[in-house]
Amino acid sequence: MATVPPCLLFLFLVALTRIIGIARAQFYCESTACDAGGVSIDFPFYQRESQIPGCGYPGFELSCANSTDPLLTLPAEPGDFTVKLISLEVQQVWINDPQQCLPKRMIRERGLNLRGSPFQFTDDYSLVNYTFFRCPSNLTALSMVPPIKCLNSGVNSGNNSLVVAILSDPPFPTPWTTPCHVISWAMIPIAGVPWLFWTDYYSDIKLEWDNPNCGSCEARGGRCGFVGPTLRDTAFRVGCYDLPTQLQGLSRKTKYGLGIGLGIPGGFCIIVLAYLFYAKMKTYEQQGLSRSDFSTIILPRLPVQTMGLDAASIEKYPKTLLGESGRLPKPNDNLCSICLCEYQPKETLRTIPECNHYFHANCIDGWLKMNATCPLCRNLPERSVSSLTPSIPTSPTH
Ligand SMILES: *[C@@H]1O[C@H](CO)[C@@H](O)[C@H](O)[C@H]1NC(C)=O
Ligand SMILES: *[C@@H]1O[C@H](CO)[C@@H](O)[C@H](O)[C@H]1NC(C)=O
Ligand SMILES: *[C@@H]1O[C@H](CO)[C@@H](O)[C@H](O)[C@H]1NC(C)=O
Ligand SMILES: *[C@@H]1O[C@H](CO)[C@@H](O)[C@H](O)[C@H]1NC(C)=O
Repeated sequence: MATVPPCLLFLFLVALTRIIGIARAQFYCESTACDAGGVSIDFPFYQRESQIPGCGYPGFELSCANSTDPLLTLPAEPGDFTVKLISLEVQQVWINDPQQCLPKRMIRERGLNLRGSPFQFTDDYSLVNYTFFRCPSNLTALSMVPPIKCLNSGVNSGNNSLVVAILSDPPFPTPWTTPCHVISWAMIPIAGVPWLFWTDYYSDIKLEWDNPNCGSCEARGGRCGFVGPTLRDTAFRVGCYDLPTQLQGLSRKTKYGLGIGLGIPGGFCIIVLAYLFYAKMKTYEQQGLSRSDFSTIILPRLPVQTMGLDAASIEKYPKTLLGESGRLPKPNDNLCSICLCEYQPKETLRTIPECNHYFHANCIDGWLKMNATCPLCRNLPERSVSSLTPSIPTSPTH
């Protein structure tokens, strides 16, 4: 019997080192941010200063060097852009100029050059040719047009001139532009129908990406990442991890590690134990003793057991997609009480109808997996006994 404890010890040592090794690899690639509460940086994005390139997809490198918001560099565009929002579900990133003067950058590059980057303008944009004019400030035709203030410095500027952007090819004559002089033209991304003037100088620009295609994975509550034995292989294949399943707390990598960590030495141990069992049985048979002693050998079980809802039950609670305003119909309820963040436009919320409480879908989903009650009123949402799933299956002998 003396060979059994070293065998089990070996099994657990191997499993332990596997789990620690995986935990460390995941630590480097964990969700991060430049600033607490700032835009969170997740795959396919990665942070240049604290993560290795293997954590993200090529072209999705962000920097936290000079800013509380992440900065994105586009290959064909000089200078950085501030990242204001990342939506992994719809595969969009909203960018802006760190100096809050997008028109200046548009003039310099005659537009926004996305060449060589994984991004493109979202469908609601069209590129429209606008000409930038510097006009006398007492021009009555311009009295309703907000001037581009950040362009009012520089040559020929002064208190009596202002810069505006007018359609390069207007559908009607514009003789009143005669006292103005042309600065430059640029292809401006315009969301919706272009007006004679471009006035949306300060809005974020929405870019989207097709590759890697992780939106559906994120929407289903999973987490996208590279597949394969190394962090990223040359084919940049991606897979979906952490989809809500029975072993909710464990990522697929951890489960994989557990499988290898326990499987190989476990198989070895089972062979050893089977051999010992066989040998003992022979001995006992020879000695004419009872075999019941062997029933005391039980495999150790993981002690964790929490009661939450399974993914299917959680999915039964209604979801709400917030509009552009980021506000709920109930005006006083725009803070998620789980993460204490305000609801932002385009976020997905989930309600527990029994108590009419709203939460971020990913916050309440995580909560309900661990705990089947509403975090605010502690009401037990309606559920069937069968939907209660222990995180770790227990054996019937317990
Ligand atoms: C940060 O700012 C300094 C000067 O302000 C500049 O030299 C440097 O290039 C900036 N770094 C990045 C990553 O933008
Ligand atoms: C606008 O100002 C200029 C001088 O800055 C002046 O010559 C011109 O008459 C003014 N036009 C109107 C319509 O007030
Ligand atoms: C603009 O007007 C202010 C006073 O109103 C004056 O001090 C300043 O010098 C003017 N700037 C230019 C460029 O004329
Ligand atoms: C935009 O309009 C300007 C002025 O009419 C013209 O010179 C330029 O070629 C146009 N650019 C494009 C890309 O059409």
